[in-house]
Amino acid sequence: MNPQDFFSKKDYKFKLPPHLTDYQKTYDDFNWQEAAKEEISYFDGGKLNAAYNAVDRHLQTDRKNKKALLWEGDKGEKETYTFEELSKWSNKYGNYLKSLGVEKGDRVFLFLPRIPAVYFSFLGILKIGAIAGTLFSAFQEKALLDRLENSGAKVVITTKELLPRLVPLRKDLPELKTVVVVDDPQFLEQIKPVSDQLSVMPMEPTDYAFMLYTSGTTGKPKGIVHTHNAILSQHLTAKYILDIHNEDIYWCTADHGWVTGIAYGILGSLSCGVTSVVYSGRFDAAKWYEILQNYKVTIWYTAPTAIRMLMAGGDELVAKYDLSNLRHLLSVGEPLNPEAIRWGLKVYGLPFHDTWWQTETGSIIIGNYPTMDIKIGVMGKPFMGIHTGIVDDKGVEVPNKTEGNIAMKPGWPSQMAWVWNNDEKYKSYFENGWYISGDRGWKDDEGYFHFVGRADDVIKTSGERVGPFEVESSLIEFPGVVEAGVIGKPDALRGEIIKAFVVLSPELREKAKDEEFVKKLKDDLAMHVKKNLAGHAYPREVDFIDKLPKTRSGKIMRRILKAQEMGEPVGDTSTLEEY
Ligand code: WTA
Repeated sequence: MNPQDFFSKKDYKFKLPPHLTDYQKTYDDFNWQEAAKEEISYFDGGKLNAAYNAVDRHLQTDRKNKKALLWEGDKGEKETYTFEELSKWSNKYGNYLKSLGVEKGDRVFLFLPRIPAVYFSFLGILKIGAIAGTLFSAFQEKALLDRLENSGAKVVITTKELLPRLVPLRKDLPELKTVVVVDDPQFLEQIKPVSDQLSVMPMEPTDYAFMLYTSGTTGKPKGIVHTHNAILSQHLTAKYILDIHNEDIYWCTADHGWVTGIAYGILGSLSCGVTSVVYSGRFDAAKWYEILQNYKVTIWYTAPTAIRMLMAGGDELVAKYDLSNLRHLLSVGEPLNPEAIRWGLKVYGLPFHDTWWQTETGSIIIGNYPTMDIKIGVMGKPFMGIHTGIVDDKGVEVPNKTEGNIAMKPGWPSQMAWVWNNDEKYKSYFENGWYISGDRGWKDDEGYFHFVGRADDVIKTSGERVGPFEVESSLIEFPGVVEAGVIGKPDALRGEIIKAFVVLSPELREKAKDEEFVKKLKDDLAMHVKKNLAGHAYPREVDFIDKLPKTRSGKIMRRILKAQEMGEPVGDTSTLEEY
């Protein structure tokens, strides 16, 4: 192996002794029951509550008055909350929701920007035994409707700014009883007298705690459901992979609309009792450095696209800030390119540690551990207690250095418990006793897992998971669009961008002979998706074509569109309709 592609931890100067010293030994000796006993607080009869573990249990320790959240808004507003304050606020929200008639198992969805109310409501919902769902704040009507309809949400919690997107949907959502607007003066009056005392509901480990929708290749987004017991996986990975110590200041840049923002922005991190920075503004390189510097961030969990954007911000910018408190950097969501790691080493003096996981896995499955040597560009090794392997399509393990499906033996605590109202989809993830992730990869002789790509057409753009079907469905709602095929096109900055191939009606095709018209039509199509589906899911590139490649049964062959786009051989076309 090229020594340049290897980062040794042999002489690495750890500012704090890592929780995990001997990966192999810990992996070999690991036992979920033992770990649960040591790390998680249970009520009688083996019951627990994830929110109690994230917040309330710290009130019995000297963390009671410790700062849990350091929040900064996009206009520079600042608020801080101790663990006790967070506990009381979430109690108030829990009690308020109860007064609205929310009961165990009801779905309550958050459609919120990154504000403290995310924490109050998410934790309050879990405390009363209801199921918290999150919605990314860039979602527009169609994306919201699909998710709220499928989940049968009883309450949605939002802000004045986002409310107008929900209003037109209410007539189509008979199960949605109440929309709570957290910055509305009326609500602020109502919540004032609500008690901040609440008896947290003890839950069975298998009871549902939260859900979020994620995209596959086909069909509408799927509601991935997680249990209260997931907190065990989230806590342990936050401790051993993020290496959270009591004295750390931790910043996870992910939004709560995605799984990272829940597992490591709310549950796992708070459960470890760490002080978290929450910044609600958009990405801006200088601002991000300011946050890292001003809050003296020590652990930073971010994503490859953000790192590449920071790279584009330049080395001189980094030098203007004092980032000397940083001690541990991590990344998730897309392949972490070797250049990003090398650049991190150059400008921050620290390597980014890759972590691999999914909405469905609920916590980190593969990672580079603080004490483990990093093979640059390689994801790392499996987390304790999770048998991870590479299998063929029939679920049979393949030898090392052979490409296959990244797969896990089911049964770790944060494995998705169900796909909401869709048993068939849930079952389709499993093959011959393995959970099949949908990602391709291979394992080397030292047990490191290498990433190859998705096995399906799911797109990762700026680290955000987008299903091509949703975008295609949105495009064909545009008058004059007959058909659309959507792919992820590799992009140096964003990992992938969304590219659409669109078939126009004869009239539009005629008009599209004019260049000006074509330009405007492409913009209009992008805008249409932005306004109707989601702000992040629009096609940055649009091509007009005469016909889409399809199988004889009428399925769009996105693989062929992609190969053509990349100038690669199109492969096996025997199942293709005449093209
Ligand atoms: C991709 C995000 C390469 C992968 C937590 C996976 C990665 C999908 C990595 C899940 C990584 C995640 N290297 N690819 N380290 N981490 N992915 O559900 O394709 O939003 O299946 O969960 O992101 O995305 P999701």
